[in-house]
Amino acid sequence: MKTVVITGSARGLGLEMAKVFRQNNLNLVISDLNKENLEKAKEELEKINSDSKVGICVCDVTKSSDIENLIKHTKKEFNNIDIWINNAGVNQPEKPIWELTEKEIDLVLDIDLKGAIIGSKLVMEEMIKQKQGAIYNIEGYGSNDAKMLGLSIYGTSKRAITYFTEALAKESEEKNTGIIVGKLSPGIMITDFITNALGDKEKINLSEKTKKVYNILGDYPDVVAKFLVENMLINTKNNAKIEWLTNRKAAWRFMTAGFNKRDFFK
Ligand SMILES: NC(=O)c1ccc[n+]([C@@H]2O[C@H](COP(=O)([O-])OP(=O)(O)OC[C@H]3O[C@@H](n4cnc5c(N)ncnc54)[C@H](O)[C@@H]3O)[C@@H](O)[C@H]2O)c1
Repeated sequence: MKTVVITGSARGLGLEMAKVFRQNNLNLVISDLNKENLEKAKEELEKINSDSKVGICVCDVTKSSDIENLIKHTKKEFNNIDIWINNAGVNQPEKPIWELTEKEIDLVLDIDLKGAIIGSKLVMEEMIKQKQGAIYNIEGYGSNDAKMLGLSIYGTSKRAITYFTEALAKESEEKNTGIIVGKLSPGIMITDFITNALGDKEKINLSEKTKKVYNILGDYPDVVAKFLVENMLINTKNNAKIEWLTNRKAAWRFMTAGFNKRDFFK
């Protein structure tokens, strides 16, 4: 039975992806900052009828020792790591660059960018020993070079994640490791992430204009997770991009916006 590890998976997209993996009988190790939240998430996962097992492991992705421990914990419980998803992420306060503190900038880059880089590096070492495995990183606003006020540092990290993931895939291919590396592009999801900055440290008050765009382009994370996981399960290609909100889908959503009565914020 295959084993999946997802960082930042006590809620949001991470937890929803875990549910779909469990429905497909894959063993799981969910990990996040807080043990109680992980225990609650595990309870939820265990309500799903499945032959697989669910492990939990506290891991702050800004600490490489925590990531090493997550790898060790998974190997001990399940022997192998088949799929690793660097999913942990935080949003930034909705401010221009010069109004952000250095601490706020560090936190976003340390979690969203460096956390995924170190996670990929450490699990790559392990997967090379196994001679197989798949690593996925999550794209986000900025990955396609889009820019907007209040998302510049987050966008910097996601633009870099895209480059980093492609570079890792190329190195994996050139070194003939047999490990596949890919990008998951979830579009816009209605999770705590869109209204909370820096973990849950600060609230973001969404403008009416932003809410309108989210109502058109956004989806609940369970819908996106089903699509991403089903595609990961059949993907055998290195450097794949599994994309939920394609340009075509976004254009269609705008064209049919007049018929769309969704209101995620009522
Ligand atoms: N929500 C969106 O619209 C959206 C869009 C594109 C990409 N994404 C990306 O999807 C991923 C998941 O986002 P989400 O919407 O589910 O957010 P979320 O806030 O619901 O979940 C993020 C999880 O990451 C955890 N986390 C935060 N800091 C961590 C750390 N240092 N170490 C370990 N875990 C940590 C949180 O505790 C939380 O459980 C993120 O990478 C995010 O950038 C989100």
